[in-house]
Amino acid sequence: MKTKDNLLSLLEAAKGSYVSGEDLSSSLGISRTAVWKAASTLREDGYDILSAYGKGYCLSSGSDRLSAFAISQHLQNKVFSITVLPETGSTNNDSKALAEKGASEFTLVASEHQNAGKGRLGRSFYSPEGTGIYFSILLRPRMPIGDALYITTAAAAATSRAIEDVCGKRTGIKWVNDIFIAGKKVCGILTEASIDMESGSLAYAVLGIGINVIEPEGGFPEAISNVAGSVYSSKEYVPGIRSRLLAAVLDNFYLYYTAFPEKAFLEDYRKRSILIGKVATVIRGDLQYPAEITGIDDNCRLLVLREGVPETLDSGEVSVRL
Ligand code: BTN
Repeated sequence: MKTKDNLLSLLEAAKGSYVSGEDLSSSLGISRTAVWKAASTLREDGYDILSAYGKGYCLSSGSDRLSAFAISQHLQNKVFSITVLPETGSTNNDSKALAEKGASEFTLVASEHQNAGKGRLGRSFYSPEGTGIYFSILLRPRMPIGDALYITTAAAAATSRAIEDVCGKRTGIKWVNDIFIAGKKVCGILTEASIDMESGSLAYAVLGIGINVIEPEGGFPEAISNVAGSVYSSKEYVPGIRSRLLAAVLDNFYLYYTAFPEKAFLEDYRKRSILIGKVATVIRGDLQYPAEITGIDDNCRLLVLREGVPETLDSGEVSVRL
């Protein structure tokens, strides 16, 4: 860990109260000038750190900035190795780079802002500063490639539950991996995998989750404003929730992931489906047709009736529009 991360952990632990420069320098084993420099770097990263002569340093009680310490504080399963970046291109790309360097399972990269956030099907994911949670978890699953879809569906169920538990909002899941609140998409999930050609199994997978937590100032860009929504309006939001929410997603996902053969996530996933019981448009290449959605099978495929004839739809081949 870098000095600034260690300093941040100490200030997070005393959030809202001053810690003297002397105490910080002896706890960290560095000079007071080095403490001052690390505090300046943290301010540049966007942390609201106050300092006062004779009192020391204080992380403002209203600070909402994500940090490894703030997230870990709320985590029950302490298996995640967490890095929070003030800004990055895409946390999925960061995680893939770490995976290639041999990083271990459950390495997590989160960022306050992505300037090249990636969505599914080559789309971009709008990831403005400080209003969302953008993170990627490195997984090294021992499972056949065909089962990789379960990572995404388990993540959708885990995230939906976390939003409901922490934020008290009712969520719905649109097959395969979009989470909706009141008709607007508040979360997207992108899982990218690398295949070990020799064994034909997954070498690693990067699970990327983006949640629009607070409505961005000025709203969403016009191109997505009819689809995108947020968990909270800016007036409703209480600082600190983003860290709690991220920790809850991690804890829920960890439980599902470590019990994959039981597919415990399926029940949570199915009961939040916003498609079941509706008539939707199935899009398969250039072909579009209406179908009644009747269910989701144990392999996370969509069960539909097309002109009364049953069909099973695979997420790799089709998408569905309500
Ligand atoms: C989608 O809805 O199309 C999927 C969006 C996935 C966005 C997340 S944000 C964290 C991670 N990093 C990325 O570049 N994308 C995913």
